[in-house]
Amino acid sequence: MNRLNLKNNLILAPIAGYSDAGMRTLCRRYGAALTFTEMVSAKGLYYNGANTKSLLFTYPEERPIGVQLFGSEPEIIAYAISLPELKKFDVIDINMGCPVPKIVKNGEGSALMKNPELVYKIIKAAVQAAQGRPVTAKIRAGFSSDDLNAVEIACIAAQAGASAITVHGRTRDMFYSGKADLDIIKKVKESVDIPVIGNGDIKDNSSYKRMVEYCGADYVMIARGAIGKPYIFAQILNQDFEYSAKDAIIEHLNLLCGYLDERTAVSNMKKQIAYYVKGMRGSKQIKEKIFQTFTKAEMLHAVESLL
Ligand SMILES: Cc1cc2nc3c(=O)[nH]c(=O)nc-3n(C[C@H](O)[C@H](O)[C@H](O)COP(=O)(O)O)c2cc1C
Repeated sequence: MNRLNLKNNLILAPIAGYSDAGMRTLCRRYGAALTFTEMVSAKGLYYNGANTKSLLFTYPEERPIGVQLFGSEPEIIAYAISLPELKKFDVIDINMGCPVPKIVKNGEGSALMKNPELVYKIIKAAVQAAQGRPVTAKIRAGFSSDDLNAVEIACIAAQAGASAITVHGRTRDMFYSGKADLDIIKKVKESVDIPVIGNGDIKDNSSYKRMVEYCGADYVMIARGAIGKPYIFAQILNQDFEYSAKDAIIEHLNLLCGYLDERTAVSNMKKQIAYYVKGMRGSKQIKEKIFQTFTKAEMLHAVESLL
């Protein structure tokens, strides 16, 4: 087992469409000890997809950083891990929780929860390919409420050599609704020797404390609570911090423009801005105006004048 060696116990989750290099950089600056790319298709990397590879861009200040892969074939996952583009990643995570039908139909994501033997093979192959870097798995409470097998899957992942296990306390059937089950995270912690990363519904200091104190989680992973709120890490760590949504949006946009073409950066930024302005007075009008921009200059102008 390889230790994660992080400066604190707060981790930014892999979030498809959101945990880009901009969000990750801001979250790091506000104290996240580790961040993850959004899920990246191992098959996409195998077939050399340009779109897939753009998800692998990172800024040097992001390290330590983890990449999350999804797939169902141990050899393809091992191949992806051994690519030169993945050398810079300090942690390799395998997605075993994605609930999306297209992914599940292919036997990937949360479908792996129903296939313990394959979980073993995938982790074993990934650990071998990772050459000493920690391999982690991100699982759910189970596939459905009548099959809560997180403990079994976590034990198998640990036996296969995983360095830590993330447990999102919902079943696949719950997608992102309902409440995360803290008891299952606690049970996993009591059942494995490797560190447990607790995940689900962390939005403030008290939900963070519950995850650490009640579940015994070694690390805490935040997803939705950090979208449009990169300062959540400093808040939970009780650190002094300065924050302005306007400055954060401008910095996020600049970071995206550093590696994406302008159209893509502006388009991706719209989704993020919807969260940055949430709860602000006049947020509906602000969004409407910003959504009508198509270049960086237009977006910057709108942000400068509206916020
Ligand atoms: C829009 C969205 C995209 C997500 N993408 C991923 C992903 O790429 N990989 C993954 O393992 N989990 C993904 N998740 C799940 C989160 O990482 C996390 O497990 C879940 O949202 C529960 O944590 P939270 O309550 O802090 O949001 C995604 C969740 C959301 C809402």
